[in-house]
Amino acid sequence: MRKPIIAGNWKLHKTVEESRQLIKALAEGLKDVTDVEIVVAPVFTSLESVVAAAKGSPIAIAAQNCYPAPSGAFTGEVSPALLKDVGCIGAIVGHSERRQLFGESNAFINNKVQALLAADLRAIFCIGETLDERESGRMYDILTMQVKEGLAGLTPEQMAKVVVAYEPVWAIGTGKTASNEEAEEAHAFIRGLLQGNFNEKVAENTPILYGGSVKPGNVDGLMAQEDIDGVLVGGASLVAEDFIRIVRFERTEPAQH
Ligand code: PGA
Repeated sequence: MRKPIIAGNWKLHKTVEESRQLIKALAEGLKDVTDVEIVVAPVFTSLESVVAAAKGSPIAIAAQNCYPAPSGAFTGEVSPALLKDVGCIGAIVGHSERRQLFGESNAFINNKVQALLAADLRAIFCIGETLDERESGRMYDILTMQVKEGLAGLTPEQMAKVVVAYEPVWAIGTGKTASNEEAEEAHAFIRGLLQGNFNEKVAENTPILYGGSVKPGNVDGLMAQEDIDGVLVGGASLVAEDFIRIVRFERTEPAQH
């Protein structure tokens, strides 16, 4: 039984005050939720106030990135230890924007996953193919490499702190979502990779989230898929009403997750 996880990635949006207003609205609108894990990831500068404002609510706070060293001469970076210090439960790593805009490799992302786990934090580990990779038939090879290299060296026990997010790059911020079937097919494939790289139990227990233009209008269908355990939401997570509706997705068949 995998508990659904609904995560919001606020990306580079919102001042401290705007972040505080959004988290207050979410905390109020979601205070009774117990059957879904809710996570939001604000910008670094808002983390502390959002953690404070979310206290007592079912919403956990994560960062959008981290650097894989506890401290040192790394100008401009933030370590897992410091994220923990402000009350974060973990961080998103390997987001396609970081892979594409900042040239992050699978090996570097693996270092970040390792560093988060070493700090006893959770890693929301993102993977996904570009449109070109999908159309040229390389999608499965890409996902295979991303999982193999990004999660290299982890023990099955450590995988208990890892959440995988499948985000096809062509669906991020484009309004173009993968169909329920396309998403389920990729998720089932990724679950198979977890079995091959780790074991049956890891495959069974690791939550796999879908991300890419998730909205109130398409979340129910996605969440009804057997291997989709939650969603990672960008744009729609910035609008309280939309994110609340996404967390309150309609369950078509109970006991699917
Ligand atoms: P989107 O972003 O929902 O705006 O497509 C998803 C993400 O990048 O995590």
